[in-house]
Amino acid sequence: MCGIIASTGEAASLNDLVEGLARLEYRGYDSAGVAVTREDGTMDRIRAVDGTASLKLLAELANDKSDGYIAGLGHTRWATHGRVTTDNAHPHFDCTGGLGVVHNGIVENFRELKNELEGSGHVFSSQTDTEVIAHLLEDYLKDGAILKDAVAASMSRLRGAMSFVALDANYPSVLVATKRMAPLVVGSGSHVNFVASDIPAILGKADTFYQVGDDQVVVVSPDGISLSDLFGNPMELAEIEVQWDLEAAARGGFRDFMSKEIFEQPAAVRDTLLGRLNQEGEIVLDEMRLDPDELRKINKIFIVGCGTSYHAGMVAKYAIEHWTRIPVELDISSEFRYRDPVLDKETLVIGVSQSGETLDTMAAMSEAAKLGAKTLVVSNVMGSSMARAADAVLYTRAGPEIGVAATKTHTAQIAALLLMALYLAQVRHSLDPHEVARVFSDMVMLPEKIQKVLTSDASIEEVAQAMVGVKRFYFIGRHVGYPVALEGALKLKEISYLPAEGYPAGELKHGPIAMIDADAVVFGMATRTRLWEKTISNVEEVRVRGAQIILVANEGDSESAALGDAIFEVPETHPLLAPVLDVIPLQLFAYHLAVSLGNDVDRPRNLAKTVTVE
Ligand code: M6R
Repeated sequence: MCGIIASTGEAASLNDLVEGLARLEYRGYDSAGVAVTREDGTMDRIRAVDGTASLKLLAELANDKSDGYIAGLGHTRWATHGRVTTDNAHPHFDCTGGLGVVHNGIVENFRELKNELEGSGHVFSSQTDTEVIAHLLEDYLKDGAILKDAVAASMSRLRGAMSFVALDANYPSVLVATKRMAPLVVGSGSHVNFVASDIPAILGKADTFYQVGDDQVVVVSPDGISLSDLFGNPMELAEIEVQWDLEAAARGGFRDFMSKEIFEQPAAVRDTLLGRLNQEGEIVLDEMRLDPDELRKINKIFIVGCGTSYHAGMVAKYAIEHWTRIPVELDISSEFRYRDPVLDKETLVIGVSQSGETLDTMAAMSEAAKLGAKTLVVSNVMGSSMARAADAVLYTRAGPEIGVAATKTHTAQIAALLLMALYLAQVRHSLDPHEVARVFSDMVMLPEKIQKVLTSDASIEEVAQAMVGVKRFYFIGRHVGYPVALEGALKLKEISYLPAEGYPAGELKHGPIAMIDADAVVFGMATRTRLWEKTISNVEEVRVRGAQIILVANEGDSESAALGDAIFEVPETHPLLAPVLDVIPLQLFAYHLAVSLGNDVDRPRNLAKTVTVE
């Protein structure tokens, strides 16, 4: 999920490029870079690592060096292939240094192409997959192709979802770009034209926006924009209607941040999983910083977190114990630090915190470190206090979350924690490598399945609107359905301000069922796991006591459907991955009910996004 911006034209400037990059920083902040062509036919490149710092540096350089700018490429990187170093920062050049490329996505067959290109004498200066594009283009140009044809020919040889923009110093004002299953737009302003990965990067600078379709090539010059397919057949430019101001653009056209973030979940999960499997089919967690030898010695794990992060941790407990057989204890952060936990150097304490700044979790982690345990934090914020202090870090790649109610960071947290559980199983050999690869391939299918769940938005909205006036909600589930029930209840409480409780379904009879009557609505987590029958029996118990029933069930499961007053359908997946899908209808339900009640879903009363007090 890198960010791309490129510009050309009389009014184009390095400053615009850097400003656009600052707006794209959420797409990746490992490094940033620009390459510009100048009137004298040369190409300059500036690259720097470390997110915000690199952008500041680029901004300073932009002020000094913007004279003679003809066209430029800008990129903000989230590393997939190759560590976070200046050499791996984009733009990448060919052997001549006169052709630059910025790229977003993954070239899946880059190893094979790199071997071939190195075999024919190309010299690589980075470990990235991107650099193969520059050298491939170089070969086609050497054979006499124009850049547009070289881009088309290269794209037909590249496998994977990606977009890229190329600039050749020999034709210093011409940008050529292409895409496949990755975002790319073209913008036209007064004496300036742009290519960018996202509209907000060029909003206010361009006034007309055009779509680029998959496997199409767009040529953008000061004189105009032309589009063709990979065979060179001209295509019609289709305008995108954009009526956003910057603030609305930040919301991506959604009513509020919460709905935008709910709908960003396919990307949040996909990006969190991106680049985590190597050619050999093994999980790689580069930024983890914990040595596999150390991980093999771990004999106990604690997971700590607050609120939604705690619920993600609870899902991880089931997965880690099942896949690694390491005992896992789960604690609310504010309880952990005062309960005198028993830890030593063979204990791993995992702190789950979207912000990486929650005081209770931070204090729990420092208590763990003081007691000699190894610490690992799962955070969405690069360089957050906890990420810096912990022995190891695993980042979710959900992008910034503005809505107070966590949604996309939650599903990304579950994805990251499950990855970590699989990684542990891999290094400890507690799971067959084929099984690791099989579960990972099920994980890779999750974004598409989330997308499918999101298509039920309108029907979930109808159900939610019909629930205005209901005074009490209960959520029940078993196994990993239990944390989903807790999260469903928390979402509803946070933004609708209505009493909502989550329970393990088997616990109902031990007390809570006394509250069930015709005024109650009960959500049952009834996807087909081996505990489905038991959950359904519990659902029956509340149904006969008059409660209205809403079930989260698998698509086409008529037996479950027969028991619910409403059904929220989700696709089937591996049982331990199910929470990633099952929680989404509950987020949508909470959202629509809160909107129907007239509440401010982005800024619910009494809450703060990050709680930095005890
Ligand atoms: O930033 P953190 O993940 O550490 O935050 C933990 C909780 O404060 C947070 O999950 C809170 O429960 C959310 N508002 C839930 O939507």
